[in-house]
Amino acid sequence: MGNAQAVSQTNVDVSGKVPMDDLVALCKRRGFIFPASEIYGGINGFWDFGPLGVLLKNNLRDRWWNDMVLCPPIGPDGEPLQIQGIDSAIIQNPQAWVASGHVGGFSDPMVDCKLTKLRYRADHLVAVVDERNGQIFAFNQDVLEEKATLKKLKKQAGTDELAKLKVVPFTTIAVFDYAKVIGPDTDQKGSLTEPKQFNLMFKTYVGATASEDDKAYLRPETAQGIFLNYKAIVDNMRVRVPFGIAQIGKAFRNEVTPRNFIYRSREFEQMEMEWFCHPDDAAKWFEFWVETRKKWWQAVGVSVANLQTRKHDNDELSHYAKGGQGTIDIEYRFPFTAPGFGELEGIAHRRDFDLTQHQEHSKTKLEYFDDSVQPPRRFMPHVIEPAAGLTRGVLAVLAEAYTVDASRPSGMYLKFKPSMAPVKAAVLPLLNKDGLPEIAQKLYYSLRTKFVTEYDTKGNIGKRYARHDEIGTPFCITVDTDTPKDHAATIRHRDTMAQERVSLDKIEEFVSKALKE
Ligand code: GAP
Repeated sequence: MGNAQAVSQTNVDVSGKVPMDDLVALCKRRGFIFPASEIYGGINGFWDFGPLGVLLKNNLRDRWWNDMVLCPPIGPDGEPLQIQGIDSAIIQNPQAWVASGHVGGFSDPMVDCKLTKLRYRADHLVAVVDERNGQIFAFNQDVLEEKATLKKLKKQAGTDELAKLKVVPFTTIAVFDYAKVIGPDTDQKGSLTEPKQFNLMFKTYVGATASEDDKAYLRPETAQGIFLNYKAIVDNMRVRVPFGIAQIGKAFRNEVTPRNFIYRSREFEQMEMEWFCHPDDAAKWFEFWVETRKKWWQAVGVSVANLQTRKHDNDELSHYAKGGQGTIDIEYRFPFTAPGFGELEGIAHRRDFDLTQHQEHSKTKLEYFDDSVQPPRRFMPHVIEPAAGLTRGVLAVLAEAYTVDASRPSGMYLKFKPSMAPVKAAVLPLLNKDGLPEIAQKLYYSLRTKFVTEYDTKGNIGKRYARHDEIGTPFCITVDTDTPKDHAATIRHRDTMAQERVSLDKIEEFVSKALKE
């Protein structure tokens, strides 16, 4: 590839970011992700996956299930790990959420603006303090570096010298100083209320009477379904500690400020695994899972340059992860966090918090009896939890794949790993005559039984290539006027646009091989 092309092919725009608005527009235009209830004006924090989006999401989901449950990693001792898969109910006995700490503690501090009626998460705000006069400006931290925000800030502070302004977390501002604070969407001081705790669980009622006694919750994490099934798995599935239980499914959180497309939504999917081990081995397994999960994100196409791990500070640890190894997040450089990073997956040492809580509240013994050692021992296992976002993972894979290329009619292409691409191959007859459709259809009928293949006759060949660049199809197979003579077709590689002639009877093998990489 020549230098000029190398410069024009990049997954960032000139400001160093994937153009997020373009990505969101592409997702809608090409059937990846639509706003939920759009014909009614939408509903904040909810998204629908379209035909291409659900294929992409299922590819990521199936890869996780395969690598965790069907073919789990090889452990430090050289043996494959034991991990059982489950699919638990979304609504469980509400007492389970009291025991897990979610009824009492799963809340975000929120401040309201009395003037605009807008609501903010206090821990997502930053305070910009004007050291000359003590004036304080509050902003959402993820927009602080945007040009419009900086302009507003300079205007409000009456200075171009940002050095005079000190940025601190909003939560460090004393409540008696709130009178000096100008909120993010107003020009007036003193409009923000004191932070109030807001529980994130969605409530519903089970049964016809809808009284307070029938109150139940939509699960805010898939993890608790695993703890609730721990005893059934130990009693019935012939597992021995250490072992894991994994599940993929929806979780619901009434987020105060859903934002950044599908990054923070109110309904999303998680891929979680609880690894039950002896307390003495927890540190070793914690390290193992951080490394294993980081490599996994690379295996699905996320570049190592856009990944980092970050240990939680003590004051940001969840109630279940205090003490022990704490939590390490695997973070991705999302377009809206760049040059910074945002959480993709958390690996937490939950210790014996959940099992002990459920034992106490359910009055059911959950200790593990280990008779494989002498003398036999009884203990409450510790848990290492790799908890990944499937929905957020889809966004990371999309952002990673989005590659600006001014030399193409589409101006960009989605550079998915072939195994992640929603459509693996497209069969394109060059002309609608001379026997080409018959040959192309025969090829299509055989390929479609092996992998997701499209038969595409719409528009000229350039338009068809452009559409497949936009949806990230790795291989376009063109049946042309030479095909009836040489029984071969031209395969166009999405990333390089290079073309190669492949015999019709070798095309399935060619694509299958690329899907294994
Ligand atoms: N069981 C532990 C747990 O739920 P978490 O860090 O709250 O931990 C795990 O969530 C993952 O779920 C996150 O790393 C993120 O990828 C995803 N996630 C959490 N809240 C989300 C939201 N509102 N929208 C989309 N994904 C979310």
